[in-house]
Amino acid sequence: VRSAVSRSSSSNHLLTRTFATESVPERKVAVLGAAGGIGQPLALLMKLNPLVSKLALYDIGATPGVAADVGHVNTRSEVTGYMGEEQLGKALEGSDVVIIPAGVPRKPGMTRDDLFNINAGIVKSLCTAIAKYCPNALVNMISNPVNSTVPIAAEVFKKAGTYDEKKLFGVTTLDVVRAKTFYAGKANVPVAEVNVPVVGGHAGITILPLFSQATPKANLTDDTIVALTKRTQDGGTEVVEAKAGKGSATLSMAYAGALFADACLKGLNGVPDVVECSFVQSTVTELPFFASKVKLGKNGVESVLDLGPLSDFEKEGLEKLMPELKASIEKGIQFANAN
Ligand code: NAD
Ligand code: LMR
Repeated sequence: VRSAVSRSSSSNHLLTRTFATESVPERKVAVLGAAGGIGQPLALLMKLNPLVSKLALYDIGATPGVAADVGHVNTRSEVTGYMGEEQLGKALEGSDVVIIPAGVPRKPGMTRDDLFNINAGIVKSLCTAIAKYCPNALVNMISNPVNSTVPIAAEVFKKAGTYDEKKLFGVTTLDVVRAKTFYAGKANVPVAEVNVPVVGGHAGITILPLFSQATPKANLTDDTIVALTKRTQDGGTEVVEAKAGKGSATLSMAYAGALFADACLKGLNGVPDVVECSFVQSTVTELPFFASKVKLGKNGVESVLDLGPLSDFEKEGLEKLMPELKASIEKGIQFANAN
C-alpha cells in the first residue's frame, strides 16, 4: 500500500514537496525469519525506523508474540505478525523491502557452507513467494551462505520472470561494521568517523577489507593490517566460538541489517549519495556476483562502484578469494536449477 506521493517517484515536483513538508512516503518492510535470533532485534530496529510505515513479521512460528511485543513501541509503523506458509503471501504483499534472516546459524567447527543443505531450500521457497507476491521489492539476503543464497535467489527470480539485478542484495554490512570497529581500535581514531570498504563475498577469505582505503588515514604497520584483515575475515567465527553452540552473531547482525535496510529505504525515497557495500550482480570482476560499494537509488542499485586502488596485499587477497567465491556462486546456481 503506497501513498500517491511514493507512487509518483518519477515526479521531482511531488518528491520535493514531500521533503519540504517533512512527510515521508509509506513503505512496507517484511522480515522473513522474524522470530529468530537476528529477526527479533531486527524487527525492533525496523520498528524504530521512521521511514517504515508497515512492518510485516513472518516466521514459521512465534511471530504473534514478537509482533504483539514490538507493536507496543510508540513509533510510526503498524506491525503485523504472520505465521506459517499460508500467511506468507499476506506478509509479502505490497512490500518495498524484504529482509531475509530465515535459516539455521552455525555452531563451532562449522563453515557457512555447512549451512547450505538446509538454508538453500528455505531461501528458494521464500524467494518463490517473493516472485509471486512482491516481485518489485528490494530483497536483502542475510541467510547464509550469502555467497550461494544470493545466486539461488537470482535463479529463482529468473525462472519466475521477475529478476531485476538492481533489486537483489547480499547483506555484507556486518563485515563493514566489524572492519570499522577493529580499525578504529588499532588506528586510535573515533569509530564514528571511520569508513572502510569491504569487498568480495561473505565467508572467510572471500571477505576482503580494503584497509588501504580506510579513513581517517593512519600509519598502521603491515603486520597490523594483516591482523586486522584476518580478524575481519574471522569475525563471524569469533562470535560463533564465543557463543559456544548457542548460534552466531545476532545483535550486531540486526544492527547491520537495519543499517542496510535503512540505506535501501533512503535510496527508494530519493535521498542522494547513499552508498553501502553489498554483494550484488556485478561486472567489477569476472564473477557474476561480487561485493563492493553500491550506490542506492529509487530502483535499488543505481551503480556498482569500482574497487578503487588496491595495495599489493589486497591484490593478493583478491586473487586468492576468486576460486572459492566462484565455486560458492556456482553451487547456488546449480542448486536452484536442479531442484
Ligand atoms: P535463528 O535460528 O535464531 O533464527 C532463524 C529463524 O528462521 C527462526 O526463527 C526460524 O523459525 C526461521 N525460519 C526457519 N525456516 C523458515 C522459513 N521457511 N520461513 C521463515 N522463517 C524460517 O538464526 P539466526 O541467528 O537469526 O540466523 C539466521 C541466518 O542468518 C543464519 O543462516 C545465519 O548464518 C545468518 N547470518 C548472516 C549474517 C550475515 O552477515 N549475512 C550474519 C549473522 C547470521
Ligand atoms: C557472521 O558473519 O557473523 C555471519 O555470517 C554468521 C556466521 O556464521 O559467522
